[in-house]
Amino acid sequence: MGNVAEEITKKLLIDAGIKKGLRVLDVGCGRGDVCLLLADMVGTEGTVLGLDFDETSLSYARARVQENNITNVTFIKNNLSDLTIIEDKFDAIIGRRVLMYLPEPKKVITSLSKLLKVGGIMVFQEHDSTMSPGSIVPMPLHSQVTKWIWDTVELEGGNIRIGFDLWNLLSQERLVVDKVRAEGILQTPDSPYPIAPIVRAMLHRIIEKGVATAEEIDIDTLEDRLTEEREKSNCTYVKEMVFCAWARKTE
Ligand SMILES: C[S@@+](CC[C@H](N)C(=O)[O-])C[C@H]1O[C@@H](n2cnc3c(N)ncnc32)[C@H](O)[C@@H]1O
Repeated sequence: MGNVAEEITKKLLIDAGIKKGLRVLDVGCGRGDVCLLLADMVGTEGTVLGLDFDETSLSYARARVQENNITNVTFIKNNLSDLTIIEDKFDAIIGRRVLMYLPEPKKVITSLSKLLKVGGIMVFQEHDSTMSPGSIVPMPLHSQVTKWIWDTVELEGGNIRIGFDLWNLLSQERLVVDKVRAEGILQTPDSPYPIAPIVRAMLHRIIEKGVATAEEIDIDTLEDRLTEEREKSNCTYVKEMVFCAWARKTE
């Protein structure tokens, strides 16, 4: 994930009120990127529990935590569809790019809400394709590549318009939505976003889903072709919108 998206996450966590001493649950933690951010923010007086159902990602996350001598983060393998195994209560529950993959996100939020202390916060960051890509001059290769990514995620069952659902998903009994906001992931001629590495990482999935062939993608030349198009266009390109929302648990 590029730095822009990481910056959006950091700002979100600060604005939502993540601070020293909190006990936080990171749902769909994957390889632990958000857990590492949280570990620093809650400090040694706080704790972070990362939850995911994918053992490969969890092993990677555990290794990162160990390598960095981080002592306030632990992980649990569990499916969000059944949270009965978790007995703790948390000051905050965070999820980044996870609701979009859940068949019943509203139900999961209801269950998660039960794990939240009164006054605690539930925070989500979800990426959305509805209003993007956007540019004033045509950027066909950029648009094509962005479409490959979203088409693949959608064919895998992801809700690529989840941003527009966030308010409804969080508007539940005993949860009051504090804020819903969106920010674009932009690239300008002097500030590219690493789209080619994302395609490289997703290559087998894109091909497997029949979205594009290896020949069409031509991964080894993709970065150069994107750079050429960006330099020629001399314009700003909006890759996607990032929706952020948080809600507070009431009495
Ligand atoms: C796109 S990744 C995001 C990872 C991480 N939150 C981040 O932003 O770097 C989505 C993660 O959600 C996890 N996930 C999806 N559905 C899940 C479920 N039902 N229960 C637990 N984890 C789930 C996946 O295994 C994956 O690690």
